[in-house]
Amino acid sequence: MLKIDQNNLPRHIAIIMDGNGRWAKQHTMGRIRGHKKGAQAVKTTVTACREIGIQCLTLFAFSSENWGRPNEEVNALMSLLADYLDKEAPTLQKQEIMLTTIGDVERLYPSVKKKLLEVKKLTEKNRKMVLNLALSYGSRDEIIFAVKKMISDNREGKLNVDDIDNDTVGSYLYTNNIPDPDLLIRTSGEYRISNFLLWQLAYSELYFTDVLWPDFKKDDLLTAIAVYQSRERRFGLTSEQINDK
Ligand code: FPP
Repeated sequence: MLKIDQNNLPRHIAIIMDGNGRWAKQHTMGRIRGHKKGAQAVKTTVTACREIGIQCLTLFAFSSENWGRPNEEVNALMSLLADYLDKEAPTLQKQEIMLTTIGDVERLYPSVKKKLLEVKKLTEKNRKMVLNLALSYGSRDEIIFAVKKMISDNREGKLNVDDIDNDTVGSYLYTNNIPDPDLLIRTSGEYRISNFLLWQLAYSELYFTDVLWPDFKKDDLLTAIAVYQSRERRFGLTSEQINDK
């Protein structure tokens, strides 16, 4: 198994889990079978992150645009989600993982919303890792929501325009309590951000792999982390400035 530096782990990994449909096609199966296999990869990735010592994992599980997919597929994704929450709640609890969500969860099916509330409550005191599911999530919607709230807080005298800085904007986003991702992984050979964490990814390292999400294994995760560790993060400074620190 690939060796990684335990002293330079990304604190927060975000993943765009792409390629379920193409995986299904390659195996001459329907798209829903691809999502089922994708849910399996979610389980192994969560456990792998916990074993490696990653503090936060954000998974793009359902975008605000995904509501436009055929009804049958939306239904299947909702029931896979409910099933995942049902079956994995004891594991999350045992592994001391806290479940959180970002996105417009009010739009989710009532059965999913109910289970989410239950599992969030069950795991809220867990501190070993955060599993953050992006559900009905779109980054532009998130920013619009934040701008509206800032304007209304300003009108109510709770927010002074001159005080608005990076931290202020960050605090109005769904990711309020979560550090920005250090590493973004996108599977399936697509090179896009697809309306995911546009503000939060400002200085993240981006890693793209051709592996389709259902085939994504712990070794693929370790490779992504090793690549991350081989990069120099400069945050707009020079290499000398970073190394003299
Ligand atoms: C992208 O593949 C994937 C999704 C839209 C959904 C992701 C869902 C899962 C991995 C399973 C359920 C999630 C959880 C948390 C249990 P695609 O369908 O766009 O693939 P394609 O681009 O090859 O068609």
